[in-house]
Amino acid sequence: MIPNCDSTTIVIFGATGDLTYRKLIPALYNNYRKERLTECSHIVGFARRDWDDDTFRNRLKEGVVAFIDDDLDEAQWEAFAAMLTYFRGNLDHAGDFEKLAGYLDEIEDGPADRLYYLATSPSFYGPASEYLGQAGLANQRNGARTLVVEKPFGRDFGSAMELNEQIHSAFDESQVYRIDHYLGKETAQNILFFRFANTIFEPVWNRRYIDNIQITVAESVDVGDRAGYYDKAGVMRDMFQNHLLQLLALVTMEPPASLDADAIRNEKAKVLGAIQPLALEDTVRAQYAGYREADGVADDSQTPTYAALKLFINNWRWKGVPFYLRSGKAMPEKTSEISVQFQAPPDIMFSLNEQDGFTPNTLSICVQPDEGMHLKFEAKVPDLNESRSVDMDFHYRDAFKGVSLPDAYERLLLDAIRGDASLFARSDEIKIAWKLIDPIIQGWEAKDTPPLATYEPDSWGPAEAEALVARAGHEWWLGCGHENGE
Ligand code: BG6
Repeated sequence: MIPNCDSTTIVIFGATGDLTYRKLIPALYNNYRKERLTECSHIVGFARRDWDDDTFRNRLKEGVVAFIDDDLDEAQWEAFAAMLTYFRGNLDHAGDFEKLAGYLDEIEDGPADRLYYLATSPSFYGPASEYLGQAGLANQRNGARTLVVEKPFGRDFGSAMELNEQIHSAFDESQVYRIDHYLGKETAQNILFFRFANTIFEPVWNRRYIDNIQITVAESVDVGDRAGYYDKAGVMRDMFQNHLLQLLALVTMEPPASLDADAIRNEKAKVLGAIQPLALEDTVRAQYAGYREADGVADDSQTPTYAALKLFINNWRWKGVPFYLRSGKAMPEKTSEISVQFQAPPDIMFSLNEQDGFTPNTLSICVQPDEGMHLKFEAKVPDLNESRSVDMDFHYRDAFKGVSLPDAYERLLLDAIRGDASLFARSDEIKIAWKLIDPIIQGWEAKDTPPLATYEPDSWGPAEAEALVARAGHEWWLGCGHENGE
């Protein structure tokens, strides 16, 4: 044993799957390269396939080569690969968890922290947690025991609560880390820095100055080969219940008293809890033309691949400000952005550029892909007595030259290893999110209101979504270097 070398054991359940290959191991490898994961660590892959350590290592090496930013350093890989071992086990067999317990005691050189990552099909989250508990693997006598659970966390309020119960039968809430990879994105984390490490915006970050806030998470990909999962989930469960609501919480929460995980999550839960239940008329659901032809999609599928919502937050800061959220697949480009539109000046005494008309001051937080911020404001057109809107921008690629943005999983895994839960969703946030989303999905299904609209692939969504914002005199806004609108 190397003296003073912190030892953590990471057990990945579902170790032969795509997530492990594409995300988890490249992220752990990057942490190792940055000396954030010591070589006393163990990374154990638990899965059913008849593999041995070498098969496991060779397969994961391919993933690392494919998904890290630069060339693989063979010597570094060899040192990292020495930490990887494979344990053949079945998630259905309680006995295999007992065997795992013996195996872990054998490979560890003494007390070690352990992190269990459930990268499995969601149906195993509950049973695997219970088996871990039964095998004594959740017990923290010899070090921290952390459980990381991937999304989706339930498919509605009831199933999420059931899953919570199963998990809590073995793990205390403080041991549970629910992944929302959007929270691991640098730009999502930057929302809190931007708001609370500066003084210029926070005084105007409220209903007195803000006219509306929009969150767009557009994806250019269609459902691809995930139709089996997606057709049962749909965009509300897949994107809104988690990613969009989490972004909304970061933009609207009150300043936490500290960066302590619970201080942050208390504020997020508070603001999510203040969202007014949505009226079905303030929702749009749509499916892209051709979706039903995809393999694994029912011929008469009513699953929305796009949704748009208008919602209000009933608190002193936000009362009356409309929030517009939209997300869809098969859109013209991949972009995730948040636009904060400020109110118009009380009186416009300058003549406006005829072509542009009035453009509200808008701050765009560009979450991805061109991470940064844009601020639109009015300036005098030289040599004319006319005002036109111009753009001030900040891009990570220019401001932080030579620094590559880490993948969300790199940060999240490291935080989970270090025991920092601030970027993970707490059980009350999940409950509140389902309480908001459930009635919408149920309303759509039971009342067929609003009817499922259709949109063309490669378009910005259905006309109904334009109408949703136009009712209050608004337009969807894209300010991160795209042409606005269609
Ligand atoms: C996942 C959804 O959570 O997020 C996918 O299940 C979606 O359907 C993905 O494509 C989007 O993530 P990102 O990081 O590519 O924006």
